Amino acid sequence: MTLLSIYRLLLVLHTVHRFGSMRLQCSREFCYFYDLTSNEDTFAYRYIPPNVDILTVENALMEHLDHSMLQGVPSFIDHVMVTNSYALRWVSVPKAVNSLMISTSSLQRIDIETNSTLSYLGIAVCNLVKVPITVQNAQMLEWLHITSCKLQGLNLASLCENGRLRVLNLMANKIRYVVNTSTRYCALYDTLASLTLSENLLTTVNMELFNVLGRMDSLHLQNNKIRALLGQLIHSMLAEVRLDGNKLKDVDLCEWVVPSLSIILLDRNNITMIPKCVKNITSVSMLTLRSNRLSTFTIESLAGMNALRELDISCNKLTTVTLSTEHFPADLEVINMDYNNLTALDLSFIPARSLEVRVSYNLISRFDVNATSRNVSQLSMYQNPIICAWHTPFLWGRDRCNQTDGSVLLVHNEHLRNACHN
Ligand SMILES: *[C@@H]1O[C@H](CO)[C@@H](O)[C@H](O)[C@H]1NC(C)=O
Ligand SMILES: *[C@@H]1O[C@H](CO)[C@@H](O)[C@H](O)[C@H]1NC(C)=O
Ligand SMILES: *[C@@H]1O[C@H](CO)[C@@H](O)[C@H](O)[C@H]1NC(C)=O
Ligand SMILES: *[C@@H]1O[C@H](CO)[C@@H](O)[C@H](O)[C@H]1NC(C)=O
Ligand SMILES: *[C@@H]1O[C@H](CO)[C@@H](O)[C@H](O)[C@H]1NC(C)=O
Ligand SMILES: *[C@@H]1O[C@H](CO)[C@@H](O)[C@H](O)[C@H]1NC(C)=O
Ligand SMILES: *[C@@H]1O[C@H](CO)[C@@H](O)[C@H](O)[C@H]1NC(C)=O
Ligand SMILES: *[C@@H]1O[C@H](CO)[C@@H](O)[C@H](O)[C@H]1NC(C)=O
Repeated sequence: MTLLSIYRLLLVLHTVHRFGSMRLQCSREFCYFYDLTSNEDTFAYRYIPPNVDILTVENALMEHLDHSMLQGVPSFIDHVMVTNSYALRWVSVPKAVNSLMISTSSLQRIDIETNSTLSYLGIAVCNLVKVPITVQNAQMLEWLHITSCKLQGLNLASLCENGRLRVLNLMANKIRYVVNTSTRYCALYDTLASLTLSENLLTTVNMELFNVLGRMDSLHLQNNKIRALLGQLIHSMLAEVRLDGNKLKDVDLCEWVVPSLSIILLDRNNITMIPKCVKNITSVSMLTLRSNRLSTFTIESLAGMNALRELDISCNKLTTVTLSTEHFPADLEVINMDYNNLTALDLSFIPARSLEVRVSYNLISRFDVNATSRNVSQLSMYQNPIICAWHTPFLWGRDRCNQTDGSVLLVHNEHLRNACHN
Protein backbone atom coordinates (compact mmCIF):
# COMPACT_ATOMS: atom_id res chain seq x y z
CA MET A 1 0.00 0.00 0.00
CA THR A 2 1.37 3.40 -0.87
CA LEU A 3 1.91 6.02 1.75
CA LEU A 4 -0.67 8.16 0.05
CA SER A 5 -3.39 5.54 0.22
CA ILE A 6 -2.67 4.87 3.90
CA TYR A 7 -2.92 8.57 4.52
CA ARG A 8 -6.23 8.74 2.68
CA LEU A 9 -7.66 5.81 4.55
CA LEU A 10 -6.59 7.16 7.92
CA LEU A 11 -8.38 10.36 7.10
CA VAL A 12 -11.46 8.23 6.88
CA LEU A 13 -11.36 7.92 10.65
CA HIS A 14 -12.14 11.58 10.94
CA THR A 15 -14.72 11.70 8.20
CA VAL A 16 -17.27 9.38 9.69
CA HIS A 17 -20.54 11.33 9.74
CA ARG A 18 -19.01 13.83 7.41
CA PHE A 19 -19.30 14.12 3.65
CA GLY A 20 -16.39 15.19 1.58
CA SER A 21 -14.28 13.58 -1.05
CA MET A 22 -13.27 10.64 1.10
CA ARG A 23 -13.67 7.11 -0.16
CA LEU A 24 -15.46 5.81 2.92
CA GLN A 25 -18.42 7.91 3.94
CA CYS A 26 -20.85 6.90 6.61
CA SER A 27 -24.10 8.13 8.00
CA ARG A 28 -26.06 6.59 10.82
CA GLU A 29 -26.93 3.30 9.13
CA PHE A 30 -25.07 3.35 5.81
CA CYS A 31 -21.52 3.42 4.66
CA TYR A 32 -20.48 4.11 1.10
CA PHE A 33 -17.15 2.92 -0.12
CA TYR A 34 -16.16 4.54 -3.41
CA ASP A 35 -13.71 3.38 -6.06
CA LEU A 36 -12.64 0.05 -4.57
CA THR A 37 -9.56 -0.87 -6.57
CA SER A 38 -7.78 -3.69 -4.84
CA ASN A 39 -7.71 -6.05 -1.96
CA GLU A 40 -5.59 -3.63 0.00
CA ASP A 41 -8.38 -1.08 0.06
CA THR A 42 -10.48 -3.38 2.19
CA PHE A 43 -8.25 -2.17 5.00
CA ALA A 44 -10.83 0.61 5.34
CA TYR A 45 -13.54 -1.80 6.49
CA ARG A 46 -12.14 -1.55 10.00
CA TYR A 47 -13.34 2.06 10.16
CA ILE A 48 -16.95 1.17 9.61
CA PRO A 49 -18.81 2.13 12.80
CA PRO A 50 -20.55 -0.84 14.45
CA ASN A 51 -24.05 0.68 14.27
CA VAL A 52 -23.93 0.61 10.46
CA ASP A 53 -25.69 -2.31 8.82
CA ILE A 54 -25.60 -1.46 5.11
CA LEU A 55 -22.40 -1.17 3.15
CA THR A 56 -22.53 0.10 -0.42
CA VAL A 57 -19.52 -0.37 -2.61
CA GLU A 58 -19.89 2.15 -5.38
CA ASN A 59 -17.80 2.14 -8.53
CA ALA A 60 -15.70 -0.94 -7.88
CA LEU A 61 -12.94 -0.57 -10.43
CA MET A 62 -11.80 -4.19 -10.82
CA GLU A 63 -13.09 -6.92 -13.09
CA HIS A 64 -13.22 -9.57 -10.37
CA LEU A 65 -14.54 -8.80 -6.91
CA ASP A 66 -12.80 -11.73 -5.35
CA HIS A 67 -13.60 -13.78 -2.32
CA SER A 68 -11.38 -11.81 0.05
CA MET A 69 -12.97 -8.47 -0.79
CA LEU A 70 -16.32 -9.50 0.59
CA GLN A 71 -14.82 -11.82 3.19
CA GLY A 72 -13.42 -8.91 5.15
CA VAL A 73 -16.74 -7.09 5.52
CA PRO A 74 -17.47 -6.81 9.26
CA SER A 75 -20.01 -9.33 10.49
CA PHE A 76 -22.40 -6.62 11.80
CA ILE A 77 -23.08 -5.54 8.22
CA ASP A 78 -26.36 -7.17 7.16
CA HIS A 79 -26.58 -5.96 3.57
CA VAL A 80 -23.84 -5.47 1.05
CA MET A 81 -24.60 -3.55 -2.12
CA VAL A 82 -22.32 -3.13 -5.09
CA THR A 83 -23.45 -0.45 -7.52
CA ASN A 84 -22.40 1.45 -10.62
CA SER A 85 -19.41 -0.74 -11.30
CA TYR A 86 -19.09 -1.03 -15.05
CA ALA A 87 -15.72 -2.82 -15.00
CA LEU A 88 -17.06 -5.58 -12.81
CA ARG A 89 -17.68 -8.92 -14.56
CA TRP A 90 -17.20 -11.51 -11.89
CA VAL A 91 -18.10 -11.66 -8.20
CA SER A 92 -17.07 -14.36 -5.74
CA VAL A 93 -19.36 -14.58 -2.74
CA PRO A 94 -17.95 -16.00 0.51
CA LYS A 95 -20.33 -18.14 2.52
CA ALA A 96 -20.89 -15.63 5.34
CA VAL A 97 -22.62 -12.99 3.18
CA ASN A 98 -26.37 -12.93 3.96
CA SER A 99 -27.72 -10.28 1.68
CA LEU A 100 -26.13 -9.05 -1.51
CA MET A 101 -27.34 -6.65 -4.19
CA ILE A 102 -25.33 -5.97 -7.30
CA SER A 103 -26.73 -3.28 -9.50
CA THR A 104 -25.46 -1.75 -12.71
CA SER A 105 -22.38 -3.75 -13.54
CA SER A 106 -21.09 -5.90 -16.38
CA LEU A 107 -21.56 -9.03 -14.28
CA GLN A 108 -21.29 -12.25 -16.29
CA ARG A 109 -20.32 -14.66 -13.60
CA ILE A 110 -21.07 -15.07 -9.92
CA ASP A 111 -19.54 -17.80 -7.80
CA ILE A 112 -21.32 -18.55 -4.56
CA GLU A 113 -19.35 -20.59 -2.07
CA THR A 114 -20.69 -23.96 -0.93
CA ASN A 115 -22.83 -23.84 2.24
CA SER A 116 -23.45 -20.15 1.68
CA THR A 117 -25.76 -18.43 4.17
CA LEU A 118 -27.02 -16.05 1.50
CA SER A 119 -30.74 -15.47 1.89
CA TYR A 120 -31.28 -12.40 -0.35
CA LEU A 121 -29.61 -11.99 -3.71
CA GLY A 122 -30.57 -9.18 -6.04
CA ILE A 123 -28.83 -8.47 -9.32
CA ALA A 124 -30.06 -5.67 -11.54
CA VAL A 125 -28.67 -4.38 -14.84
CA CYS A 126 -25.99 -6.89 -15.74
CA ASN A 127 -24.78 -9.20 -18.50
CA LEU A 128 -25.78 -12.57 -17.08
CA VAL A 129 -27.28 -14.80 -19.78
CA LYS A 130 -28.44 -17.55 -17.47
CA VAL A 131 -29.25 -18.16 -13.85
CA PRO A 132 -25.78 -18.78 -12.37
CA ILE A 133 -25.17 -22.45 -11.64
CA THR A 134 -23.66 -21.69 -8.23
CA VAL A 135 -27.00 -20.35 -6.99
CA GLN A 136 -27.59 -23.95 -5.99
CA ASN A 137 -24.87 -23.54 -3.35
CA ALA A 138 -27.06 -20.96 -1.64
CA GLN A 139 -29.30 -23.36 0.19
CA MET A 140 -30.67 -20.64 2.47
CA LEU A 141 -31.70 -18.42 -0.42
CA GLU A 142 -35.26 -17.11 0.01
CA TRP A 143 -35.36 -14.24 -2.41
CA LEU A 144 -33.71 -14.07 -5.83
CA HIS A 145 -34.07 -11.15 -8.22
CA ILE A 146 -32.17 -11.03 -11.49
CA THR A 147 -33.71 -8.12 -13.34
CA SER A 148 -32.78 -6.04 -16.39
CA CYS A 149 -30.03 -8.48 -17.30
CA LYS A 150 -29.69 -10.71 -20.39
CA LEU A 151 -31.13 -14.02 -19.27
CA GLN A 152 -32.32 -15.94 -22.31
CA GLY A 153 -34.40 -18.63 -20.70
CA LEU A 154 -35.41 -20.24 -17.47
CA ASN A 155 -34.89 -23.87 -16.68
CA LEU A 156 -36.66 -24.62 -13.42
CA ALA A 157 -34.19 -27.46 -12.93
CA SER A 158 -31.41 -24.92 -12.35
CA LEU A 159 -33.05 -23.96 -9.05
CA CYS A 160 -34.08 -27.49 -8.14
CA GLU A 161 -31.96 -27.56 -4.97
CA ASN A 162 -33.10 -24.20 -3.64
CA GLY A 163 -35.51 -25.55 -1.08
CA ARG A 164 -36.12 -22.22 0.65
CA LEU A 165 -36.62 -20.00 -2.34
CA ARG A 166 -39.94 -18.14 -2.00
CA VAL A 167 -39.60 -15.25 -4.41
CA LEU A 168 -38.10 -15.48 -7.88
CA ASN A 169 -38.17 -12.34 -9.99
CA LEU A 170 -36.60 -12.40 -13.46
CA MET A 171 -38.27 -9.30 -14.81
CA ALA A 172 -36.95 -7.38 -17.83
CA ASN A 173 -34.58 -9.94 -19.28
CA LYS A 174 -34.60 -11.57 -22.72
CA ILE A 175 -36.29 -14.79 -21.67
CA ARG A 176 -37.82 -16.66 -24.59
CA TYR A 177 -38.55 -19.98 -22.97
CA VAL A 178 -39.34 -21.67 -19.67
CA VAL A 179 -38.50 -25.35 -19.42
CA ASN A 180 -37.87 -28.02 -16.86
CA THR A 181 -35.22 -30.62 -17.51
CA SER A 182 -35.25 -31.99 -14.00
CA THR A 183 -35.85 -35.70 -13.87
CA ARG A 184 -36.73 -35.74 -10.21
CA TYR A 185 -38.77 -33.93 -7.60
CA CYS A 186 -37.21 -30.61 -6.67
CA ALA A 187 -37.07 -29.02 -3.21
CA LEU A 188 -38.03 -25.75 -4.91
CA TYR A 189 -41.53 -27.05 -5.69
CA ASP A 190 -42.49 -26.90 -2.03
CA THR A 191 -41.36 -23.34 -1.41
CA LEU A 192 -41.69 -21.02 -4.38
CA ALA A 193 -44.57 -18.63 -3.69
CA SER A 194 -44.09 -15.97 -6.31
CA LEU A 195 -42.71 -16.14 -9.84
CA THR A 196 -42.23 -13.03 -11.96
CA LEU A 197 -41.28 -13.30 -15.63
CA SER A 198 -42.72 -9.99 -16.77
CA GLU A 199 -41.09 -7.82 -19.47
CA ASN A 200 -39.46 -10.70 -21.29
CA LEU A 201 -39.87 -12.19 -24.77
CA LEU A 202 -42.10 -15.18 -24.09
CA THR A 203 -44.41 -16.01 -26.99
CA THR A 204 -46.01 -19.25 -25.84
CA VAL A 205 -46.19 -20.57 -22.33
CA ASN A 206 -46.91 -24.12 -21.31
CA MET A 207 -48.92 -23.53 -18.15
CA GLU A 208 -48.47 -27.16 -17.09
CA LEU A 209 -44.90 -26.37 -16.08
CA PHE A 210 -46.26 -24.47 -13.11
CA ASN A 211 -48.42 -27.27 -11.78
CA VAL A 212 -45.58 -28.67 -9.68
CA LEU A 213 -44.99 -25.36 -7.91
CA GLY A 214 -47.52 -26.24 -5.25
CA ARG A 215 -47.00 -23.16 -3.05
CA MET A 216 -47.05 -20.56 -5.78
CA ASP A 217 -49.72 -17.94 -5.23
CA SER A 218 -48.73 -15.38 -7.83
CA LEU A 219 -47.59 -15.77 -11.39
CA HIS A 220 -46.58 -12.62 -13.25
CA LEU A 221 -46.31 -12.95 -17.03
CA GLN A 222 -47.26 -9.42 -18.00
CA ASN A 223 -45.60 -7.45 -20.79
CA ASN A 224 -44.25 -10.32 -22.81
CA LYS A 225 -45.27 -11.26 -26.36
CA ILE A 226 -47.46 -14.17 -25.42
CA ARG A 227 -49.79 -15.33 -28.17
CA ALA A 228 -50.71 -18.71 -26.79
CA LEU A 229 -51.20 -20.39 -23.46
CA LEU A 230 -50.81 -24.14 -23.69
CA GLY A 231 -51.54 -27.01 -21.37
CA GLN A 232 -53.75 -27.62 -18.43
CA LEU A 233 -53.06 -25.49 -15.38
CA ILE A 234 -54.02 -27.42 -12.28
CA HIS A 235 -53.17 -25.53 -9.17
CA SER A 236 -54.85 -25.29 -5.81
CA MET A 237 -52.97 -22.27 -4.33
CA LEU A 238 -52.60 -19.90 -7.24
CA ALA A 239 -54.38 -16.63 -6.41
CA GLU A 240 -53.15 -14.14 -8.99
CA VAL A 241 -52.23 -14.46 -12.66
CA ARG A 242 -51.05 -11.43 -14.60
CA LEU A 243 -51.13 -11.75 -18.37
CA ASP A 244 -51.64 -8.10 -19.21
CA GLY A 245 -49.64 -6.50 -22.02
CA ASN A 246 -49.35 -9.55 -24.26
CA LYS A 247 -50.69 -10.54 -27.67
CA LEU A 248 -53.42 -12.94 -26.70
CA LYS A 249 -56.40 -13.19 -29.02
CA ASP A 250 -58.40 -16.10 -27.69
CA VAL A 251 -58.06 -17.25 -24.16
CA ASP A 252 -59.46 -20.64 -23.33
CA LEU A 253 -59.59 -21.42 -19.62
CA CYS A 254 -61.70 -24.56 -19.96
CA GLU A 255 -58.87 -26.83 -18.89
CA TRP A 256 -57.79 -24.79 -15.91
CA VAL A 257 -58.52 -26.11 -12.45
CA VAL A 258 -57.59 -23.22 -10.17
CA PRO A 259 -59.94 -23.09 -7.18
CA SER A 260 -58.06 -20.27 -5.38
CA LEU A 261 -57.64 -17.97 -8.33
CA SER A 262 -58.86 -14.55 -7.36
CA ILE A 263 -57.25 -12.06 -9.75
CA ILE A 264 -56.85 -12.40 -13.52
CA LEU A 265 -55.40 -9.43 -15.37
CA LEU A 266 -55.72 -9.55 -19.16
CA ASP A 267 -55.50 -5.86 -20.04
CA ARG A 268 -53.68 -4.69 -23.18
CA ASN A 269 -54.04 -7.84 -25.24
CA ASN A 270 -55.90 -8.43 -28.48
CA ILE A 271 -58.86 -10.30 -27.04
CA THR A 272 -62.10 -10.30 -29.00
CA MET A 273 -64.20 -12.56 -26.74
CA ILE A 274 -64.59 -13.05 -23.02
CA PRO A 275 -62.20 -15.92 -22.16
CA LYS A 276 -63.86 -19.28 -22.63
CA CYS A 277 -64.97 -20.93 -19.39
CA VAL A 278 -63.90 -17.97 -17.25
CA LYS A 279 -67.22 -18.32 -15.49
CA ASN A 280 -66.24 -21.75 -14.28
CA ILE A 281 -63.54 -20.14 -12.17
CA THR A 282 -65.94 -19.03 -9.50
CA SER A 283 -63.24 -17.87 -7.07
CA VAL A 284 -62.30 -14.90 -9.25
CA SER A 285 -62.95 -11.54 -7.62
CA MET A 286 -61.22 -9.27 -10.11
CA LEU A 287 -61.20 -9.66 -13.87
CA THR A 288 -59.67 -6.96 -16.05
CA LEU A 289 -59.83 -6.77 -19.83
CA ARG A 290 -59.07 -3.09 -20.34
CA SER A 291 -57.66 -2.19 -23.79
CA ASN A 292 -58.68 -5.20 -25.78
CA ARG A 293 -60.91 -5.66 -28.84
CA LEU A 294 -64.23 -6.74 -27.36
CA SER A 295 -67.05 -5.51 -29.57
CA THR A 296 -70.00 -6.85 -27.64
CA PHE A 297 -70.47 -7.99 -24.10
CA THR A 298 -73.15 -9.68 -22.06
CA ILE A 299 -72.87 -10.05 -18.32
CA GLU A 300 -74.43 -13.48 -18.76
CA SER A 301 -71.01 -14.67 -19.86
CA LEU A 302 -69.97 -14.15 -16.24
CA ALA A 303 -73.11 -15.53 -14.60
CA GLY A 304 -72.42 -17.63 -11.54
CA MET A 305 -69.13 -15.91 -10.72
CA ASN A 306 -70.37 -15.15 -7.28
CA ALA A 307 -67.04 -13.92 -5.94
CA LEU A 308 -66.62 -11.37 -8.73
CA ARG A 309 -66.39 -7.83 -7.33
CA GLU A 310 -64.64 -5.88 -10.02
CA LEU A 311 -64.84 -6.08 -13.79
CA ASP A 312 -62.94 -3.78 -16.12
CA ILE A 313 -63.87 -3.80 -19.82
CA SER A 314 -62.94 -0.18 -20.48
CA CYS A 315 -61.05 0.83 -23.63
CA ASN A 316 -62.54 -1.81 -25.88
CA LYS A 317 -64.67 -1.46 -29.01
CA LEU A 318 -67.97 -2.18 -27.38
CA THR A 319 -71.01 -1.01 -29.27
CA THR A 320 -73.53 -3.02 -27.24
CA VAL A 321 -73.67 -4.40 -23.72
CA THR A 322 -76.30 -6.46 -21.98
CA LEU A 323 -76.46 -5.93 -18.24
CA SER A 324 -80.16 -6.19 -17.42
CA THR A 325 -80.55 -9.89 -16.92
CA GLU A 326 -81.06 -12.20 -14.02
CA HIS A 327 -77.90 -14.12 -14.93
CA PHE A 328 -75.76 -11.65 -13.11
CA PRO A 329 -72.73 -12.15 -10.83
CA ALA A 330 -74.51 -11.48 -7.56
CA ASP A 331 -71.82 -9.55 -5.71
CA LEU A 332 -70.41 -7.47 -8.51
CA GLU A 333 -69.50 -4.05 -7.08
CA VAL A 334 -67.82 -2.19 -9.93
CA ILE A 335 -68.08 -2.41 -13.69
CA ASN A 336 -65.90 -0.08 -15.72
CA MET A 337 -66.96 0.48 -19.35
CA ASP A 338 -65.25 3.84 -19.92
CA TYR A 339 -63.87 4.52 -23.42
CA ASN A 340 -66.10 2.37 -25.56
CA ASN A 341 -68.54 3.12 -28.35
CA LEU A 342 -71.79 2.47 -26.52
CA THR A 343 -74.78 4.41 -27.80
CA ALA A 344 -77.42 3.01 -25.44
CA LEU A 345 -77.47 1.73 -21.89
CA ASP A 346 -80.13 -0.25 -20.06
CA LEU A 347 -79.70 -0.51 -16.30
CA SER A 348 -83.32 -1.31 -15.52
CA PHE A 349 -82.75 -4.65 -13.88
CA ILE A 350 -79.49 -5.20 -12.02
CA PRO A 351 -79.75 -8.04 -9.52
CA ALA A 352 -76.72 -7.05 -7.48
CA ARG A 353 -76.60 -5.59 -3.99
CA SER A 354 -74.85 -2.40 -4.90
CA LEU A 355 -73.22 -1.72 -8.23
CA GLU A 356 -71.00 1.15 -9.32
CA VAL A 357 -71.24 1.70 -13.09
CA ARG A 358 -68.58 3.69 -14.93
CA VAL A 359 -69.43 4.51 -18.51
CA SER A 360 -67.78 7.83 -19.33
CA TYR A 361 -66.31 8.55 -22.79
CA ASN A 362 -68.96 6.71 -24.77
CA LEU A 363 -71.66 7.91 -27.15
CA ILE A 364 -74.71 7.18 -25.06
CA SER A 365 -77.76 9.05 -26.25
CA ARG A 366 -80.34 6.51 -25.11
CA PHE A 367 -80.57 6.00 -21.37
CA ASP A 368 -83.67 6.04 -19.20
CA VAL A 369 -82.68 7.27 -15.80
CA ASN A 370 -86.22 6.85 -14.48
CA ALA A 371 -86.09 3.17 -15.25
CA THR A 372 -82.73 2.61 -13.65
CA SER A 373 -82.48 -0.02 -10.93
CA ARG A 374 -81.92 1.31 -7.44
CA ASN A 375 -79.21 -1.30 -7.14
CA VAL A 376 -77.04 1.02 -9.22
CA SER A 377 -75.61 2.85 -6.26
CA GLN A 378 -73.10 4.92 -8.20
CA LEU A 379 -72.98 6.03 -11.79
CA SER A 380 -70.37 8.03 -13.69
CA MET A 381 -71.49 8.80 -17.20
CA TYR A 382 -69.51 11.87 -18.24
CA GLN A 383 -68.53 12.73 -21.82
CA ASN A 384 -71.63 11.26 -23.43
CA PRO A 385 -74.57 12.89 -25.20
CA ILE A 386 -76.39 12.24 -21.93
CA ILE A 387 -74.41 13.04 -18.82
CA CYS A 388 -75.39 11.46 -15.53
CA ALA A 389 -73.75 11.05 -12.18
CA TRP A 390 -74.58 10.02 -8.66
CA HIS A 391 -72.31 8.83 -5.94
CA THR A 392 -74.69 7.95 -3.17
CA PRO A 393 -77.33 5.22 -3.42
CA PHE A 394 -80.42 7.09 -2.19
CA LEU A 395 -79.99 10.48 -3.71
CA TRP A 396 -80.13 9.56 -7.36
CA GLY A 397 -82.98 10.63 -9.57
CA ARG A 398 -83.96 12.39 -12.72
CA ASP A 399 -82.12 15.63 -11.96
CA ARG A 400 -78.91 13.65 -11.94
CA CYS A 401 -78.83 13.60 -15.73
CA ASN A 402 -78.52 16.29 -18.38
CA GLN A 403 -78.87 16.13 -22.10
CA THR A 404 -75.92 17.70 -23.94
CA ASP A 405 -75.00 18.56 -27.46
CA GLY A 406 -72.98 15.44 -28.24
CA SER A 407 -71.77 16.55 -31.65
CA VAL A 408 -68.15 17.11 -30.69
CA LEU A 409 -67.87 14.02 -28.56
CA LEU A 410 -66.86 11.53 -31.21
CA VAL A 411 -63.64 13.31 -32.09
CA HIS A 412 -63.09 14.41 -28.54
CA ASN A 413 -63.40 10.92 -27.04
CA GLU A 414 -61.17 9.35 -29.67
CA HIS A 415 -58.56 11.91 -28.76
CA LEU A 416 -58.81 11.08 -25.07
CA ARG A 417 -58.34 7.41 -25.84
CA ASN A 418 -54.64 7.94 -25.28
CA ALA A 419 -55.59 7.18 -21.71
CA CYS A 420 -56.22 3.61 -22.86
CA HIS A 421 -52.67 2.77 -23.75
CA ASN A 422 -51.11 2.75 -20.33
C1 LIG B 1 -20.93 -27.96 3.82
O1 LIG B 1 -21.70 -28.48 4.87
C2 LIG B 1 -21.67 -29.87 4.94
C3 LIG B 1 -22.67 -30.33 6.00
O2 LIG B 1 -22.75 -29.41 7.03
C4 LIG B 1 -20.26 -30.33 5.26
O3 LIG B 1 -20.20 -31.73 5.32
C5 LIG B 1 -19.34 -29.82 4.15
O4 LIG B 1 -18.00 -30.14 4.46
C6 LIG B 1 -19.48 -28.32 3.99
N1 LIG B 1 -18.74 -27.92 2.82
C7 LIG B 1 -17.94 -26.89 2.81
C8 LIG B 1 -17.20 -26.61 1.54
O5 LIG B 1 -17.86 -26.14 3.77
C1 LIG C 1 -39.79 -31.46 -14.24
O1 LIG C 1 -39.67 -32.70 -14.78
C2 LIG C 1 -39.61 -33.75 -13.82
C3 LIG C 1 -39.40 -35.02 -14.55
O2 LIG C 1 -40.26 -35.14 -15.63
C4 LIG C 1 -40.89 -33.80 -13.04
O3 LIG C 1 -40.81 -34.78 -12.05
C5 LIG C 1 -41.07 -32.47 -12.43
O4 LIG C 1 -42.30 -32.44 -11.78
C6 LIG C 1 -41.04 -31.40 -13.49
N1 LIG C 1 -41.11 -30.11 -12.91
C7 LIG C 1 -41.83 -29.17 -13.46
C8 LIG C 1 -41.68 -27.86 -12.81
O5 LIG C 1 -42.56 -29.36 -14.40
C1 LIG D 1 -54.44 -7.56 -33.06
O1 LIG D 1 -55.20 -8.16 -34.05
C2 LIG D 1 -55.35 -7.37 -35.23
C3 LIG D 1 -56.34 -8.04 -36.16
O2 LIG D 1 -56.25 -9.42 -36.07
C4 LIG D 1 -53.98 -7.18 -35.84
O3 LIG D 1 -54.07 -6.38 -36.98
C5 LIG D 1 -53.08 -6.52 -34.83
O4 LIG D 1 -51.76 -6.42 -35.33
C6 LIG D 1 -53.04 -7.29 -33.54
N1 LIG D 1 -52.33 -6.55 -32.56
C7 LIG D 1 -51.40 -7.09 -31.81
C8 LIG D 1 -50.79 -6.18 -30.80
O5 LIG D 1 -51.07 -8.25 -31.89
C1 LIG E 1 -68.24 -25.24 -16.63
O1 LIG E 1 -69.32 -25.22 -15.72
C2 LIG E 1 -70.50 -25.77 -16.26
C3 LIG E 1 -71.61 -25.52 -15.26
O2 LIG E 1 -71.20 -25.75 -13.96
C4 LIG E 1 -70.27 -27.22 -16.54
O3 LIG E 1 -71.42 -27.81 -17.10
C5 LIG E 1 -69.12 -27.36 -17.52
O4 LIG E 1 -68.81 -28.71 -17.74
C6 LIG E 1 -67.91 -26.65 -16.99
N1 LIG E 1 -66.91 -26.68 -18.01
C7 LIG E 1 -65.65 -27.02 -17.75
C8 LIG E 1 -64.75 -27.04 -18.92
O5 LIG E 1 -65.29 -27.32 -16.65
C1 LIG F 1 -66.06 4.39 -32.36
O1 LIG F 1 -66.91 4.77 -33.38
C2 LIG F 1 -66.35 5.72 -34.27
C3 LIG F 1 -67.43 6.12 -35.24
O2 LIG F 1 -68.13 5.01 -35.69
C4 LIG F 1 -65.15 5.15 -34.96
O3 LIG F 1 -64.55 6.12 -35.77
C5 LIG F 1 -64.16 4.71 -33.92
O4 LIG F 1 -63.06 4.08 -34.52
C6 LIG F 1 -64.80 3.78 -32.94
N1 LIG F 1 -63.87 3.50 -31.91
C7 LIG F 1 -63.61 2.28 -31.51
C8 LIG F 1 -62.61 2.14 -30.46
O5 LIG F 1 -64.19 1.32 -31.99
C1 LIG G 1 -81.95 -5.44 -6.95
O1 LIG G 1 -81.15 -6.51 -6.49
C2 LIG G 1 -81.87 -7.52 -5.81
C3 LIG G 1 -80.85 -8.54 -5.36
O2 LIG G 1 -79.80 -7.94 -4.68
C4 LIG G 1 -82.87 -8.17 -6.71
O3 LIG G 1 -83.63 -9.11 -6.00
C5 LIG G 1 -83.78 -7.11 -7.30
O4 LIG G 1 -84.64 -7.68 -8.25
C6 LIG G 1 -82.95 -6.01 -7.96
N1 LIG G 1 -83.82 -4.99 -8.44
C7 LIG G 1 -83.65 -4.35 -9.57
C8 LIG G 1 -84.73 -3.41 -9.99
O5 LIG G 1 -82.66 -4.48 -10.26
C1 LIG H 1 -88.64 10.82 -15.69
O1 LIG H 1 -89.86 10.99 -15.01
C2 LIG H 1 -90.28 12.33 -14.89
C3 LIG H 1 -91.59 12.37 -14.14
O2 LIG H 1 -91.62 11.42 -13.14
C4 LIG H 1 -90.46 12.96 -16.24
O3 LIG H 1 -90.76 14.32 -16.07
C5 LIG H 1 -89.19 12.81 -17.03
O4 LIG H 1 -89.38 13.29 -18.33
C6 LIG H 1 -88.76 11.39 -17.08
N1 LIG H 1 -87.49 11.27 -17.73
C7 LIG H 1 -87.28 10.46 -18.75
C8 LIG H 1 -85.90 10.48 -19.34
O5 LIG H 1 -88.13 9.71 -19.16
C1 LIG I 1 -77.17 18.83 -14.68
O1 LIG I 1 -77.42 20.22 -14.71
C2 LIG I 1 -77.67 20.77 -13.44
C3 LIG I 1 -78.08 22.22 -13.65
O2 LIG I 1 -77.14 22.84 -14.48
C4 LIG I 1 -76.42 20.62 -12.58
O3 LIG I 1 -76.69 21.15 -11.29
C5 LIG I 1 -76.09 19.16 -12.46
O4 LIG I 1 -74.89 19.02 -11.73
C6 LIG I 1 -75.93 18.55 -13.83
N1 LIG I 1 -75.74 17.12 -13.67
C7 LIG I 1 -74.68 16.48 -14.19
C8 LIG I 1 -74.62 15.02 -13.96
O5 LIG I 1 -73.83 17.04 -14.85
